[in-house]
Amino acid sequence: MGESVGLGIIGCGQIAPSHIRNTQDDPRVRWVAACDLREEAVNERADEFGIPGRYTRVEELLADPAVDAVVVATGPEAHLQPTLAAFEAGKHALVEKPVAVNGADVETMLASQGGLVGACCSSRFRSTPPAHEATRILASGGLGVIRRLSVNVLHPPHGEYDGTSPFFLHRPGWGGQGVLADWGCYDLDFMLGLCGWALEPESVLASIERLPGHFRAIAQPRNDVEVAVTAQVRMVGGALLDYHRAVFAAVDEPRESWRIECEHGALDLNMVAGARGLVVQRFEAGGVATAVAADEAWEWPVIHRGPVIDFVEAILGGGEPMTSLRDALTVQRVTDAIYASAEAGESLRCAK
Ligand SMILES: NC(=O)c1ccc[n+]([C@@H]2O[C@H](COP(=O)([O-])OP(=O)(O)OC[C@H]3O[C@@H](n4cnc5c(N)ncnc54)[C@H](O)[C@@H]3O)[C@@H](O)[C@H]2O)c1
Repeated sequence: MGESVGLGIIGCGQIAPSHIRNTQDDPRVRWVAACDLREEAVNERADEFGIPGRYTRVEELLADPAVDAVVVATGPEAHLQPTLAAFEAGKHALVEKPVAVNGADVETMLASQGGLVGACCSSRFRSTPPAHEATRILASGGLGVIRRLSVNVLHPPHGEYDGTSPFFLHRPGWGGQGVLADWGCYDLDFMLGLCGWALEPESVLASIERLPGHFRAIAQPRNDVEVAVTAQVRMVGGALLDYHRAVFAAVDEPRESWRIECEHGALDLNMVAGARGLVVQRFEAGGVATAVAADEAWEWPVIHRGPVIDFVEAILGGGEPMTSLRDALTVQRVTDAIYASAEAGESLRCAK
């Protein structure tokens, strides 16, 4: 392997080009193979990026000696088998988000990982300079004990709704899950990862909502998946995550907030490209001092590049990726507990 890693992409759909385009200039990255069940998709990607290995079966890609590691970019319901096959073939695996459709699948991945690197792209929004700074501030302990994490994201329906987006309403087989699986993994990874994965989710009380009546007629055909989620996640030790995300919400423009409140102050964060990155509020003798700790603008290529480069660095340097499969299991177990609590109508313990 030497100084660079030979990467194969499994799944040449919508997200695949973002992985390749935003990392191909890095000398540690060599995109050597592409695989998709659809031959035309393989050829399109391989032609676009000059990738030599072209395969329509995962096993063929994994048998290519130029492939050291794979990015699994199939739909969530098809993450498990390519990941297991990669580990069995001795290749490291970076899995797209959500890592799987339930915690049991992630446990199966972990059981076959051995000493290989396994990571998940739900880390994406922690690749930015403001997120790095927030991680550093929280790890330094200067803000004291973490007491409350909150995510509140409300998105209005598309102005001229054409019945195609969000896509989870229209892709049968996409794990049968909606906004919680699709975006919740980013929110949970952001909150728990910024805290260094030190918080251990203990119990969950949640509710989920499906498409509001007004939109049902124009959102056909559709899966009957959740478009809104509300949850309270209690951590061991008492910190609380207050979580709300909704699409088709009754707002005329997006309202978005991510906040971590601690003993000595708070962090206001952002998962929005181009928005102000990180504001730190600290209690002082006279009140609260506000400072912008990292205001570097970042755009989408930064967050697409982040997980792949982090994965390659973990392979070459032997360190842990931003979101290991073990961390992804924590996110998935909270997600599973939210679905289960909403279904049961009562507070439930997270699996350990
Ligand atoms: N589309 C986005 O904007 C976006 C953004 C971030 C993350 N993601 C994540 O990336 C993953 C892929 O999303 P997408 O939008 O690119 O999906 P997609 O449906 O456009 O592409 C998936 C591709 O995987 C192929 N495939 C399925 N099973 C396969 C198998 N066993 N072997 C080889 N190929 C197989 C399909 O033929 C398809 O071309 C998902 O987990 C999604 O959540 C997507």
